[in-house]
Amino acid sequence: MRVLNIGSMNLDYVYSVDHIVLPGETESTGEIHVYLGGKGMNQSVALAKAGVSVYQGGMIGQDGQPFLDACAEFGIHSEYIARSAGKTGHAVIQIDKNAQNSILLYGGANQCLTKAYVDEVLSHFDSGDILLLQNEVNLLPYMIDKAYGQGMQIVLNPSPFHDNLAAADLSKVSIFLLNEVEGNQLTGQTSPDEILVEMNRRFPQSRIVLTLGEKGAIYFDGREKYFQPIFPVNAVDTTAAGDTFTGYFLAGLVEGLSIPSALKLSAKASSIAVSRTGAVPSIPYRKEVEDALANEPS
Ligand code: RIB
Repeated sequence: MRVLNIGSMNLDYVYSVDHIVLPGETESTGEIHVYLGGKGMNQSVALAKAGVSVYQGGMIGQDGQPFLDACAEFGIHSEYIARSAGKTGHAVIQIDKNAQNSILLYGGANQCLTKAYVDEVLSHFDSGDILLLQNEVNLLPYMIDKAYGQGMQIVLNPSPFHDNLAAADLSKVSIFLLNEVEGNQLTGQTSPDEILVEMNRRFPQSRIVLTLGEKGAIYFDGREKYFQPIFPVNAVDTTAAGDTFTGYFLAGLVEGLSIPSALKLSAKASSIAVSRTGAVPSIPYRKEVEDALANEPS
């Protein structure tokens, strides 16, 4: 079973601010950092650091070499990453003193996928392989149909939520990993229980992991339901916390861990990620996560 992740790669320009800039307001900051990020790249790094072999697909621009270097550093297969003539995607991220963020996304090369490109990449994968997707690249409906047609399992993190998802046949998704906001946008429901019930009614074949920020995460597949609380930490930057959770949870499933064990591993990994700055650099290695779990009081 191989994991292919056709997802975004963004240069994250991160500004530390007192508060998120208000409409019409100008705020100064003396602190900028540039990190590798993008939900696709972050989730591949989490999978790789968790110990799973992952193939990253997607597009970078002419300035995208750092992503290829990072793939080499973390042992991510990069042969399916293509280059477009334009710029790599980027994100302008403000982080306030409470570790809250606000993200402005420029899609760039992430929005330049073509059907020919997708067909070529998917031709190297088959039934039993997994396609991991987020919603920062174009052609999501096409990729879901095509991968499902060739028997791949589809894991979807529908983030950020956008109307394009209305055109996708989400009944073909095996596992959804989403947060409360996305759950609300997808189902119209507000409470976690209502979101899960409605997701299960619409997608009875799918497994659902609903992350609830500081309130933890819930797994539900129509029969089994598990709750995982967070591991409280001093949060400095929540960017990529969800991506770390997604990558680690999928890694746990690929390895054959039980759902409660996969949830616990993911929750610990994302708690470490929020205690560090940046997207890719904040994602912990498996050993750090396991050492931290071993140090938890029983
Ligand atoms: O999920 C975090 C990511 O969202 C950041 O790395 C940024 O690039 C945006 O895509």
